[in-house]
Amino acid sequence: MTLITEIRLRKVLDSRGNATVEADVSTESGGFGRASAPSGASTGEYEAIELPADEAIAQARSLAIPRLEGQVYAGDQRSIDRTLREADETDNFGEIGANSAVAISMAAAKAGADMLGAPLYQHLGGAFRGGDYPTPLGNAIGGGEHATGGTDIQEFLAAPVGAPSVSDAVFANARVHQAVHDILSDRGISAEKSDEGAWSPSIADSEAFEIMAEATETVSEEMGFEISFGIDAAASELFDGGKYHYSDTSRTTDEQIEYVADLVTEYGLVYVEDPLEENDYDGFEALTERVGDQTLVCGDDLFVTNTDRLTEGIEQDAANSILIKPNQIGTLTDAFDAVELAVENGYAPVISHRSGETEDTTIAHLAVATAAPFIKTGAVGGERTAKLNELIRIETNA
Ligand code: PGA
Ligand code: ZN
Repeated sequence: MTLITEIRLRKVLDSRGNATVEADVSTESGGFGRASAPSGASTGEYEAIELPADEAIAQARSLAIPRLEGQVYAGDQRSIDRTLREADETDNFGEIGANSAVAISMAAAKAGADMLGAPLYQHLGGAFRGGDYPTPLGNAIGGGEHATGGTDIQEFLAAPVGAPSVSDAVFANARVHQAVHDILSDRGISAEKSDEGAWSPSIADSEAFEIMAEATETVSEEMGFEISFGIDAAASELFDGGKYHYSDTSRTTDEQIEYVADLVTEYGLVYVEDPLEENDYDGFEALTERVGDQTLVCGDDLFVTNTDRLTEGIEQDAANSILIKPNQIGTLTDAFDAVELAVENGYAPVISHRSGETEDTTIAHLAVATAAPFIKTGAVGGERTAKLNELIRIETNA
């Protein structure tokens, strides 16, 4: 078995121009892997800790790297990730930073794959995944914490559920993104782009729903397959003092449930992420009871890729889907365990990017390896197309 021989950490840029952690992992046999940590803006209260990049690097160098170099086998991901946890000694990577942990964890997996001469998704379990590829959810209109002056709802996501291939789905999302811009231009509305590359016009959420319905219908006719849409409400960011605050109104929890349930019916939404705030398992349960047979009710800030929080959700029938973000929990092992627990209990895992990203493509491989039905990784923009183009490569090479 081949040992990890060297781990190097450095500070690199992310898509918002902030510093993030990049890791290089080398193995005895000449294997090499490089990965970098993404970073959220609408982060959940229960996420693992992201430390400032300099601090995360210094802490990981002193506490984690000496336990890994020359000590653990490069193909043994569980042992690598366990060592990261032991080096940290907290539940939330508060000592070395989840940004250092996840960069090392993902780079080690890539080094393991390189050593075997296999694509990363294959090394991560691809042999047992079956033939399906994830459908990308494409962020076309956005606001919330990702764009000042945009919509209250954070993301309006095209969902090309009828696409015959990943490639068709990727191009469909890009077309919806273009079609949204055309509709905005026709209406004389200008728009900047959000952190994830979505259009962020200063319009009411109700208008954004209309525009998404029109854009997805137009592109669906053009491309000849079904394109629906969904949302990430990121409701924790709207919630304050017991109410959900929108530009034009405030809603109690019951009103919020009613509002989202009506949207699901009116627009045939296939995906609803974080419709309620991150502590409200009861509200999630009530909504799932109402619309869980029509749409995916997905917990992002609610579950934070954490199996303990997901277990609570499963016991309460709080949702039917979980967002999986490796940096929310800190290692690939933890992300895999969350996917496995989800699937065993009939929850759809949705693999996701963060609003702050790099060119790293690990999540594309993770989504294929786990046969996740959906991946959320934007529609356009270099750090987003890095993952989308990787999905196309995986599909066309497999
Ligand atoms: P974040 O947003 O990366 O800023 O947390 C993405 C999301 O809420 O899904
Ligand atoms: Zn979210």
